Amino acid sequence: MELTWLGHATWLLKTGSHSILLDPFLDDSPTASLKSAQVAADFILVSHGHADHIADCAKIAKRTGALVISNYEICTWLAGQGVAKTLGHNLGGGSQHPFGRVQLTIAHHSSQLPDGSYGGNPSGFLLWLAAEKLRVYFACDTALFYDMKLIGSAGLDLAVLPIGDLFTMGPDDALAAVNLLHPKHVVPSHFNTWPPIAQDAQAWAERVEQETQAVPHVLKPGEKLKLE
Ligand code: NI
Ligand code: MN
Repeated sequence: MELTWLGHATWLLKTGSHSILLDPFLDDSPTASLKSAQVAADFILVSHGHADHIADCAKIAKRTGALVISNYEICTWLAGQGVAKTLGHNLGGGSQHPFGRVQLTIAHHSSQLPDGSYGGNPSGFLLWLAAEKLRVYFACDTALFYDMKLIGSAGLDLAVLPIGDLFTMGPDDALAAVNLLHPKHVVPSHFNTWPPIAQDAQAWAERVEQETQAVPHVLKPGEKLKLE
């Protein structure tokens, strides 16, 4: 599989012949490596209703015909904006797709939609990728929570964790998250988009190497990580 950071909390995961886009925020992102018109996706995952995660979802879904996977409230809101294919979940629920399985995990955050509508509960995503037999966890926007231990208990090949602080976990709590999740590989997200969430990701990665068992990978927007 190939995971590309598109800046902020937007990720493009290629597995087998499928492209899964997470939390599309590109056209108004100061660090995005692409514009929304340039992205191809078969599936779009949306973790919660904040604009820095959903801003470009409807236009990409309408252009590509991608299936949007999110919570029920966000799927209903997107359908109202003309998105044809959505699959609403609730926390703990999952579904099977050609790429494998996706499950919504708890996240401690909030989820108001850009127009003030109720966005349901925020989530993370646990993916089982059929082609490579990999388990990937996107924590998405969340505080540290002890149930991460449970999420990691079946083994994780990769965890993508926010380190930006202010709106999500910061570097110290993200380090504690690595020690609860025990992933083989870890990638930081949701930092350096704007000054209030500026972080030294290299320094964080050095602490991951010293204080955890995981292998850190710090990407720049546009860079990719490949795992087999
Ligand atoms: Ni948020
Ligand atoms: Mn956010």
